[in-house]
Amino acid sequence: MANPTAGGRLLPLLSTPHKGGRSALTCQFRCGNACAHDVANTTGNTYFGDVVKEALSRRGVLRAGALGALVAGAGIAGAAPALADQPAAKSAGKGHGGGDLRFTPVAPNTDDALTIPKGYRSSVVVRWGDPVLPDAPAFDFEDQSAEAQAKQFGYNCDYVTLLPMGRDRALLWVNHEYTDESLMFRDYTGGAEATEEQIQIALAAHGGSVVEIERAGHTGEWKLVTEGRRRYNRRITAQTPMAFSGPAAGSDLLRTAADPKGRKPVGMLNNCSGGTTPWGTVLTAEENIDQYFVNGDKVPAAQKPYIDRYTITTGTPEDNRRFDRVEERFDLAKHPNEANRFGWVVEIDPFDPDSTPVKRTALGRFKHEAANTTLARDGRVVVYMGDDSRFEYIYKFVSKDRYRHGNDRHNRSLLDEGTLYVAKFTGDSPDSELDGSGKLPSDGEFDGSGEWIPLVSGNRSYVDGMSADEVLVYTRVAADKVGATKMDRPEDIERNPVTGGVYVALTNNTNRTPAQVNEANPRPSNKHGHVLEIVERRDDAGSKTFAWSIPLVCGDPKDAATYFAGFDKSKVSPISCPDNLTFDKDGNLWISTDGNELGSNDGLFVMPVRGKDRGHLRQFLTVPVGAETCGPLVTSDQRSVFVAVQHPGETDGASPDKPSSHWPDGDQPRPSVAVVWHGQGRKIGA
Ligand code: FEO
Ligand code: CA
Ligand code: CA
Repeated sequence: MANPTAGGRLLPLLSTPHKGGRSALTCQFRCGNACAHDVANTTGNTYFGDVVKEALSRRGVLRAGALGALVAGAGIAGAAPALADQPAAKSAGKGHGGGDLRFTPVAPNTDDALTIPKGYRSSVVVRWGDPVLPDAPAFDFEDQSAEAQAKQFGYNCDYVTLLPMGRDRALLWVNHEYTDESLMFRDYTGGAEATEEQIQIALAAHGGSVVEIERAGHTGEWKLVTEGRRRYNRRITAQTPMAFSGPAAGSDLLRTAADPKGRKPVGMLNNCSGGTTPWGTVLTAEENIDQYFVNGDKVPAAQKPYIDRYTITTGTPEDNRRFDRVEERFDLAKHPNEANRFGWVVEIDPFDPDSTPVKRTALGRFKHEAANTTLARDGRVVVYMGDDSRFEYIYKFVSKDRYRHGNDRHNRSLLDEGTLYVAKFTGDSPDSELDGSGKLPSDGEFDGSGEWIPLVSGNRSYVDGMSADEVLVYTRVAADKVGATKMDRPEDIERNPVTGGVYVALTNNTNRTPAQVNEANPRPSNKHGHVLEIVERRDDAGSKTFAWSIPLVCGDPKDAATYFAGFDKSKVSPISCPDNLTFDKDGNLWISTDGNELGSNDGLFVMPVRGKDRGHLRQFLTVPVGAETCGPLVTSDQRSVFVAVQHPGETDGASPDKPSSHWPDGDQPRPSVAVVWHGQGRKIGA
């Protein structure tokens, strides 16, 4: 499709069909207009922190006597065997699960501000372009360079985690999901005409950052450390040397001219959400990687079905960033396997700036949203993962060996050997009671049972006609074959550290037709999404079966098709498009949104999941114009909430000459991580 121009500036964005609450700019730059493409899954399947502290302490990172892991519920529920031995007290339905939230909710709004409840304060911790490496220059929007960007904080921040270095100092890890060149550069007219320097800047603005931060006084505020050694500060980009490990490392499917052994990929792309392991490393998940390549239609014929199933770009569309113009590997006509080298979960040790990031092939390849870890009862490591596209699947990985407290070397091999499963959901109510209106079935709940279907264990494939490395590299195709349930864009998946329930954010799926409705995805044309809870059998994350239910069907509470776990809907906040999840130490569920379809800016919400306040959802903050809310993290002392404000000002028609947001500093919008705390030092939300 030809793109209209205005004053010589390409406006590919205005011409792009897009659905949902996102701007056309977000659709183009974030996910390569995924919604405008046909659904990739055409199969006929049923439609359907304390441990981190200890780990770091052993590694000499934490000073003796240092307090509190800062990561509350960062996907490490029951992570230590000692904790895993106590699930009875923590089992679903028996735990506390939150409540006692007293703040006045933030009203929906369209303000160009980070809006927080009365009595709270906020500040920006780190913004796009801020120096990360000690020798980085100050940011200059009008005079950017790739050399500077490779030392400065990258663009569009998503996953956020904290790794404590004591009570008042920590490492902050942040993903840089994607770049929006039309907001980063003046007069950007598309990848074909971009300068090589602009393309190099974009490559350097992807990836992730490690920065040291410190508490401001005795408050809940945290600030970037800007002086001194900052020995751990690091930038990882789309050009950082990496390694493959696990069963598919070295596979023919991963070999290229530049890496004939298929073991040394370069860079990571579109890192969306992530997780933190019990041994103190970061898992960062490559998501919409399909958009970075060209000429997907020119791969050998045998590879083409896989190109289609992963919606890899064909031809050289005008809205492509054209990374191939500076690095030939992005041209699949010349290097057809290069796309197979992206779409993985990457493990990074933030405390070793010289370490090589590792793409863990045992966790499969798809549009990974997140990778949250927990432990099975017997100590095996479990990683929950979503594939964030319409009609895609939910996965979990269970390691073969057990986590060994204090044995870093052993623990670092755990994600290389194990079984990858995909979820199948079965409802317990008759189809006739699922009319799409949102009316609950006669048993009072959207609920049922489910199973984890094995796909591959090490070098053993469970999928007919596919070898183990094919299952790992083309995981979507393997999952199609075993009858997994097609979900409404599975994003973050996280286990509640208090109740043991595993929560799944299903963002939306406007493509689901009434005929495709099922009890786990009960609403056709699902604009606002829902949240699903999985309760593993015996509350054991290593189980192969589970029960599930839907506590939250999002939207305007006045809409009869919404459900807030049975709570009085006149008292809850409207919510649309749940995306990232986290829990505070009390087990309250925190939900950030991406793509609000109710006319408000995106926000962060909190909802107790047990007790009399179960379902009492309240909005804690809203982000500025055009932004989505990412990364949410509540520190374990419950005095600080971190959020990543991704793509502020990314609205239709916006440009550096006509910015639609001036957040955070009053000039060009800059994606940033912000922290919120109570002015009197109270517990967040209390
Ligand atoms: Fe990067 Fe699925 O959001
Ligand atoms: Ca039911
Ligand atoms: Ca997201």
